[in-house]
Order: sequence, then C-alpha cells, then structure tokens
Amino acid sequence: MALFKKKQSFAPVPGAMPRHIGIIMDGNGRWAKKRGLPRVAGHREGAENFKRIAEYLLDLNIEYSTFYAFSTENWKRPQDEVENIMSLLVDYLHEWMTMQKEKNMRLHFIGDRSAFSPQIQSLMAEVEEKSAHYQNHLNLALNYGSRSELVKACNELLSEGNRNISEDDLSAHLYTAGQPEVDLIIRTGGEKRLSNFLLWQSAYAELYFTDRLWPDMKKQDIDDALAFFAHRERRFGAIIQESGKR
Ligand code: FPP
Repeated sequence: MALFKKKQSFAPVPGAMPRHIGIIMDGNGRWAKKRGLPRVAGHREGAENFKRIAEYLLDLNIEYSTFYAFSTENWKRPQDEVENIMSLLVDYLHEWMTMQKEKNMRLHFIGDRSAFSPQIQSLMAEVEEKSAHYQNHLNLALNYGSRSELVKACNELLSEGNRNISEDDLSAHLYTAGQPEVDLIIRTGGEKRLSNFLLWQSAYAELYFTDRLWPDMKKQDIDDALAFFAHRERRFGAIIQESGKR
C-alpha cells in the first residue's frame, strides 16, 4: 500500500517532508535492453514516467522538484539517440500547452538553452511564461552541468565588477536562484554518484540511491525515498541538542 495517498491529509512531521527534491533519471537504456528494445524505447518510457512522477510530486505538494533530463555530456551520445530525446522534449512541451491547467506547476528549464534549436528555445520560453503563475515549481535540467553553472555564475559576478563574493551572491546567479536548497536527491539505475547535478544546491541533501531503472520507478518507490528522508537526522554540520533543536 502506498505510504502517501494522493492529496493526503496526514499531518507531516515538521521538517520531515523535503521542500526540494532532485531526481537523476538513470537506466532508460538498460530498461530497453532488458526487453530487447532499442534505447530510444527506454527514453520514451522514461519520458512517460517523468510525467507520472512529476504529477505525483505535485499531488504530494512537494514545492520544488528538479529532474535531470539531459546533461552537458549527453551530446556525446549517438546522433539518433540525441535526436530522439529532443523529439521527446518537443512532444512534452507541446503536450504541456494543452494540459497546463491540470498540471498546475511552474516550469523552469535550467541549463544552457542556447544549444537547443530555435523551435525548442521558443517553446521553452512559452511554457515558462504560461506557467509563471503556478505555485509549485518543476525544474527540468536540460543541457545542464553543475560545474558550468558555477563558472557561469562566477563570470556573471566578475562582469558585474564584484571583487569579493558571498555564498548568497553565488546562489543568486545559479539557474535555481531564489529556490530553496535541495533536501533530497534520488538517483535510479544503481549508480551512486551525482554526475555533475546540483552540486552546490545539494551540499546538505540526503542521498537516496535505488537499483530501480527509471522507467520502472513507481509512486511506491518515491514513498520509500520519502520515508528514508523522514528518518534521517539532518544536522547541517551542527550537533543535535537534547531538545532536538540545532
Ligand atoms: C539516462 O538513462 C537518461 C537520460 C540520459 C535521458 C533521460 C531522458 C528522459 C527521461 C526522457 C526525456 C524526457 C523529457 C521530457 C525530455 P541512460 O540512457 O543513461 O540509461 P542507461 O544507463 O541504462 O544506459
């Protein structure tokens, strides 16, 4: 039985629900291979699952979620695979336009979008504009790499004439400016690494790794990750006093 039901009415333990979840969607290729299908079939199913899980996080009222869909390194994949992921992206953007009322989330495309076709860039801008009034935020990381994001932020600060910069200055120049830090990172597909994803923003995040391949990731698996998170003792480098307060 699912731990959290849609539109659940349980009173969450304060601090037990993450405000911001990052998800590394890994394992599409292996999911397809296991079924004797081409890798693109895995990405298609992965894209469908992205929509299901994004909606579930919205049902759970998770305020911010960030999904890693395409990294700065993913361009090195075979051209037909890259083209296929781009066409899944276009399909999603078009689909979002027709379903925006139901989806009820504010989309942000994080990453260097200048590498995308003018058609994709203009769809991204349209979706961001049309969703700007929604409350819950969904970041879709596309052509995203944390290191290049940090370098971009530093260069912007330098070009503004800064000589000394604070952590807040740097945070304010990231794609996630104004958003809370990541509380929980979930990675599917069995690897235990961050792969250049939200390195700054997840400095104190809890890390949850599962062998589940992304297309197989179910709501129950999200519940399991949330239960794991709820049982973590988050100290942020401090010591927990007897009262439980930092
Ligand atoms: C990692 O699995 C997945 C990717 C690099 C692409 C992720 C893309 C999607 C989930 C679909 C895109 C969705 C939208 C809406 C654009 P992998 O291919 O590295 O899997 P493997 O490790 O098993 O080979």
